[in-house]
Amino acid sequence: MNKFIAPSLLAADFGNLQRDIEMINKSDADWFHIDVMDGVFVPNISFGMPVIKAIKKHAKKTMDVHLMIVDPDRFIEDFKNVGADILTVHYEACPHLHRTIQAIKAQGMKAGVSLNPHTPIAVLEDIITDLDLVLIMSVNPGFGGQHFIENTYKKVEQLKSLIEFSSSNALIEVDGGVTDENIEKLSHAGVDAFVAGSFVFKSKNPLKTISNLKKLAIG
Ligand code: DX5
Ligand code: ZN
Repeated sequence: MNKFIAPSLLAADFGNLQRDIEMINKSDADWFHIDVMDGVFVPNISFGMPVIKAIKKHAKKTMDVHLMIVDPDRFIEDFKNVGADILTVHYEACPHLHRTIQAIKAQGMKAGVSLNPHTPIAVLEDIITDLDLVLIMSVNPGFGGQHFIENTYKKVEQLKSLIEFSSSNALIEVDGGVTDENIEKLSHAGVDAFVAGSFVFKSKNPLKTISNLKKLAIG
């Protein structure tokens, strides 16, 4: 089974963004994880369309865009236009989630839903077969470099059962505090895609760190 490593550019050096993108291009990473924060849904602001467009100019891998914004429906077409391949919205930010998911797919993107640490897996029961990806937050969204929440393993197992039970094709992605200490256990629990920000970019040798994470994930 395929396992995907998705370094989060939130932890990159924005003064040397092209250099860090080229590093990911030549690494064993599979996706670029791109965190968009609006200062309303989460208590932080990251970056928007012009920066994503600039990333897309150099990025040679899948653009995995994670929206931590309220009312994402307003911008679905814009995110397609700046290069998103996977577009993930938060369950907690979408009162009409089914409509939002259909709108993302209508633009030709893969559709993902993210759950905050306190949001139970059960809320996805009636939408799971429509999803390409579920992103389980293993920290509270808003900042990189936080500690992994242990309850995540239980949620991954519950999500895995729901996916199997409903014959959904959704991939499971985990985001926040992923390191070489928890990636194997997460992988065994059923995680397909692993976001890693600070663990990759704060390491001495990010290329080596990525290839090691990939090896541990594959097992
Ligand atoms: C947090 C973001 C994450 C973050 C992960 O709100 O969604 O993608 O960049 O960073 P680390 O790996 O440092 O926890
Ligand atoms: Zn993220």
